[in-house]
Amino acid sequence: MRTRPLKVALLGCGVVGSEVARIMTTHADDLTARIGAPVELAGVAVRRPSKVRAGIDPELVTTDATALVKRGDIDVVVEVIGGIEPARTLITTAFEHGASVVSANKALIAQDGAALHAAAEQQGRDLYYEAAVAGAIPLIRPLRESLAGDKVNRVLGIVNGTTNFILDKMDTTGAGYQEALDEATALGYAEADPTADVEGFDAAAKAAILAGIAFHTRVRLDDVYREGMTEVTAADFASAKRMGCTIKLLAICERAADGGSVTARVHPAMIPLSHPLASVREAYNAVFVEAEAAGQLMFYGPGAGGAPTASAVLGDLVAVCRNKLGEATGPGDSAYTQLPVGSMGEVVTRYHISLDVADKPGVLAQVATVFAEHGVSIDTVRQTVKDGEASLVVVTHRAPDAALSGTVEALRNLDTVRGVASIMRVEGE
Ligand code: HSE
Repeated sequence: MRTRPLKVALLGCGVVGSEVARIMTTHADDLTARIGAPVELAGVAVRRPSKVRAGIDPELVTTDATALVKRGDIDVVVEVIGGIEPARTLITTAFEHGASVVSANKALIAQDGAALHAAAEQQGRDLYYEAAVAGAIPLIRPLRESLAGDKVNRVLGIVNGTTNFILDKMDTTGAGYQEALDEATALGYAEADPTADVEGFDAAAKAAILAGIAFHTRVRLDDVYREGMTEVTAADFASAKRMGCTIKLLAICERAADGGSVTARVHPAMIPLSHPLASVREAYNAVFVEAEAAGQLMFYGPGAGGAPTASAVLGDLVAVCRNKLGEATGPGDSAYTQLPVGSMGEVVTRYHISLDVADKPGVLAQVATVFAEHGVSIDTVRQTVKDGEASLVVVTHRAPDAALSGTVEALRNLDTVRGVASIMRVEGE
């Protein structure tokens, strides 16, 4: 057992960083045994040095993150500050000055993962980021390592806890979006500005990372189609229930049937109650992976929070420290190909459409003609009539999204269609 400690610089000491420091201290003996050498917290870069941080030696605290990563004696930099800059420059500087990096930064990895992997490889360092997607859930390493010999065809995930909490409340209590959001805010699940979560930006960054790793190809954040969940209504949940479904904000990464392209998207969708993802409640995350040889796998757990995210960071820290001791590096960038990334219009899916129509002869035939003209086959139609107005719920068979959205556009232009009350994709069947 080596007695000289491996030195760790922590960039950021908020909810996650303080938990990383706490676990490094309280589990120091176990970490030493697992790594084969002690790990020592050698510096902590923060924005507000005067804040009291329990368990952290004030002597280690600095506001000069650049000087910390340039020290030369640091073995591993743990970056938990988030955002693009200064995190990106600090990480590349760390590589140049001898350190490997563990990051929890989904936005940065989704945007600049390729360049950061290249910088790490050039300097012979590790870049690990298990905590960037779905908090504590082991997902990046299973995809990068355990499934490295298999062919992943689909990743279907609930990767945002805030929106899952809101949708779960709407489902179980009948609340509207705003009421459920208010509860999520009061309980600390939603941030004061919930845009990144409810508009799907957070999930889209995670989808880009997952698609790139799962399919060994480059998927940029801009390649991910994104729709938020702010328009989901209590009426949508009532429709979903009638179909034996619930509604989830899903990140869906798929390899095309011919294997020649991939797609990545985030949007709300109905999924059958029998699908394992339907039972993911409250702020939990889960990711369903379909691989050629392995079949269907599901990864489930807490996707956010200080201690769960720190668990993933610590797992990476142990792996990177072991690599350092062995004078090796772990797996680098998993992308070795550049498959075309298809547009949303090419995605094959099903629609659930609610229409308000005039209750008079020929309307159903007119509506059905629009579907036929766009090459969209109808699976079921349900009609309810009240006071001369009819409500039609049409569920389609699978068709390209462009054909389905073209159908909806044409339906809106029919005089007999008073309005399109809701459109929701149906997934997971
Ligand atoms: N805001 C995210 C969520 C956690 O609600 O899941 C960090 O990605």
